[in-house]
Amino acid sequence: MERIAEPELMERKEQVISYAKADFSEGENKLINQINNFLINKNICLDENKLIVDLGCGPGNISEKLSLKWPKADVVGIDGSKEMIRIAELNKKNSPNRCQLKNLRYLCADIKSLKTSEISREKNISLLVSNSLIHHITYLDDFFNCIDKLSSNITINFHKDLKRPNSEKLALELKEKCAEKYNDILTNDYYASLMASYTLQELKNFIFDNKLSSLEVFEEGDQYLVIYGKV
Ligand SMILES: C[S@@+](CC[C@H](N)C(=O)[O-])C[C@H]1O[C@@H](n2cnc3c(N)ncnc32)[C@H](O)[C@@H]1O
Repeated sequence: MERIAEPELMERKEQVISYAKADFSEGENKLINQINNFLINKNICLDENKLIVDLGCGPGNISEKLSLKWPKADVVGIDGSKEMIRIAELNKKNSPNRCQLKNLRYLCADIKSLKTSEISREKNISLLVSNSLIHHITYLDDFFNCIDKLSSNITINFHKDLKRPNSEKLALELKEKCAEKYNDILTNDYYASLMASYTLQELKNFIFDNKLSSLEVFEEGDQYLVIYGKV
């Protein structure tokens, strides 16, 4: 099935509100555990002076979880949508954990023009994360150029996203399942996201063609893709 790109930024107010209100905590906790297990296996400790960046952070659900999991590190959530960043700041302010979120800040910036110096002038990024971002990016080059630019030799990348279904029939079945749980706006956005997602082979080909062989990519279940490792 051909990919159909969708707008990169999520900027419409009702779209942002629907996304921010939805409960994705099961998947978010799973991602944090996966990253934690990966770091433990590699003997990497995210303590003082370490920097974690969450690209395409949206309403900040994962940025907050990263901040709570690694309280000694600094966490920066980045999104190009002013409305998403506004909601992320609001969520942080109203969070029952707000006292512990002092290591978390947000930046409104497009990943295509983002400079390392906008994030930190002193620290290299130790952990570069994204969730459900890659499918928004029209050209894969823009995503990989961004992670390449932001990564140093210490940076561990961990990026998870939807996988494009093999057929429109399967995409419509997944949309129907989504509609059982979420409202129309979110369901239509989810369908557009499925159609805009990349396949395992597309990511593998990009990594191979661009000699990024330190990055691994694998399928998680039948709906997700994970890219991890060093650039
Ligand atoms: C589906 S949301 C995921 C939000 C969050 N990572 C999560 O898992 O809940 C994708 C986010 O990526 C942001 N985004 C898309 N393209 C971007 C770009 N070029 N630069 C910065 N942010 C971008 C969108 O505005 C949106 O907030």
